[in-house]
Amino acid sequence: MSPYVAEPVYLNGRFLPLAEAGVSPLDRGFLYGDGVYEVVPVYSRQAFRLDEHLQRLEATLAGIRLTNPLAVGDWQAIVARLIEAAPWEDQSIYLQVTRGADDKRDHAFPPASVPPTVFAFASPLVTTPANIRAQGVGAITVPDLRWARCDLKVISLLANVLARQQAVEQGCAEALLIRDGLLKEGAASNIFVVKDGVLLAPPKTQLMLPGITYDVILELAATHRLPLAVREITEMELRTADEVWMTSSTKEVLAITTLDGQPVGNGQPGPIGERMWQWYQDFKNTVMRKG
Ligand code: PDD
Repeated sequence: MSPYVAEPVYLNGRFLPLAEAGVSPLDRGFLYGDGVYEVVPVYSRQAFRLDEHLQRLEATLAGIRLTNPLAVGDWQAIVARLIEAAPWEDQSIYLQVTRGADDKRDHAFPPASVPPTVFAFASPLVTTPANIRAQGVGAITVPDLRWARCDLKVISLLANVLARQQAVEQGCAEALLIRDGLLKEGAASNIFVVKDGVLLAPPKTQLMLPGITYDVILELAATHRLPLAVREITEMELRTADEVWMTSSTKEVLAITTLDGQPVGNGQPGPIGERMWQWYQDFKNTVMRKG
């Protein structure tokens, strides 16, 4: 058993060991990256914002014209069973749907008789160690080479893969994607900027994934009356920011303290990011944790 993947995994209606979860090499996820996915964090064996993740899954499926093969209740039941079977209290649930395997290769959709492939599994939730969180992480900027529907959470992630690999090769945790002089997001996270006490968030357009964590951050900013502006952020504003953070289901809120080798602000995680991290923990603990 992989220490990273709990068993059983779910594949096409069955719960089975990972080694028995086989998919055809003609699967369109494999041939074309023709599919969608979700990553749902689990705290104390409770899925966080599952309804919102399932709504985004639905929106992404609609965006690629693939009918959701399962009802919301079926998804909830699969997620519940994976969580129950996994050995960890905090987990990350991966869900994927592809357009299935036809008996030939053709870019156009297969006949309606070809069923989608549905795969899901649980992993341990790997959180950022306190010492790394205390110093923040490095990031680089790269041109955003992705397609024009970045609002869809599709498995075709090659541009994201190449961007993040560039970051890793430079000893950094994330690559920030710049398109037409504007900050869009990270290769696998949303990005927030603080300038003069105001939290700046790029708007939800077709060029950014609408993060579930992003929504939580905006809600917490409103609850705590943090000055907030949702608007485009220029590359220059990014480079002169007081604070920059990345957010995602697995990273939560994490300070970026160097950008392209230069310090962000004073090079330390900033006070507003620290507060947001605490608000996020409090919120999570209020709605999720037992006892
Ligand atoms: N990535 N933007 C991109 C491009 C992402 O891939 C992600 C998440 C986010 C943040 O979305 P959320 O807050 O809903 O996790 C933004 C996941 C974690 C992944 O690909 O593993």
